[in-house]
Amino acid sequence: MAPKYRMLDPAFVHTLAACEATKHGRTKELVKAVKRKLHQVVAAYGDGPPPYEDWLACLRAASTDQIKPVCTRILAAHASTRERLSELDGFYATLLDGVSAPNSVLDLACGLNPMTRPWMPLPTATSYTALDVDTAAVRFLNLAFQALGYAGTADIADLAFAPPVLRADLVLLLKAVPCLEQLDKTAGRRLLETIQANCVLVSYPVASLGGRRKGMADFYDRHFQALVAGLPWRVERFTFYSELVFRLHPE
Ligand SMILES: C[S@@+](CC[C@H](N)C(=O)[O-])C[C@H]1O[C@@H](n2cnc3c(N)ncnc32)[C@H](O)[C@@H]1O
Repeated sequence: MAPKYRMLDPAFVHTLAACEATKHGRTKELVKAVKRKLHQVVAAYGDGPPPYEDWLACLRAASTDQIKPVCTRILAAHASTRERLSELDGFYATLLDGVSAPNSVLDLACGLNPMTRPWMPLPTATSYTALDVDTAAVRFLNLAFQALGYAGTADIADLAFAPPVLRADLVLLLKAVPCLEQLDKTAGRRLLETIQANCVLVSYPVASLGGRRKGMADFYDRHFQALVAGLPWRVERFTFYSELVFRLHPE
């Protein structure tokens, strides 16, 4: 396994390889196909190995007014959170307006998004669980929660092939559905069928990683309508400059 993929949950990589083997057999093509998928769903978002130890040192040394600037630097290292940075001040304030205060939050396929925790209008004691297949990010996030004094934990979970029971007051499924559906086309629908929550935020990017915006919001709008069709969720729609968000409540 290439060094840049060694931090991935081995069970996830084995399942992916077994799925791809049904299409490619045990050939060189299989190795290429697995690497291509891992690039699309994980590696494409980073700029090389994250300096987790440096980040932890900065978080541990940060005074209260330095926490957001340090988190901003960390969030800028992942394309998905980098796109969200300029809108963070209003992002959760808008999306959680009118939502009853959650006691528990579940952040699915979280990447570095838990580092936006200081922008969430929630008490530090609100339970926060972050799930991803990146074991190095999971270790970092656990230590980061400790450094910042949040009641948070991160865990390894494969949400495409082996999702655990997903239950919380508030569930974040931010820009994750397109990724998970590259692994298994039914993954997004299955999550929306099984998540138990008072509120779910499902989002999509409105520009490609290369910055092209043409038609993406319309495309994902239609995609989401098909995904949620017939499921017992009441849906509200929010548009931000870099993200299209659907807020779901059980009917
Ligand atoms: C586009 S990023 C979104 C990150 C974050 N939710 C955000 O909006 O900033 C996709 C994330 O999905 C994670 N991921 C990919 N496949 C996964 C899987 N099968 N199960 C859980 N997480 C996965 C990647 O490691 C990456 O952190």
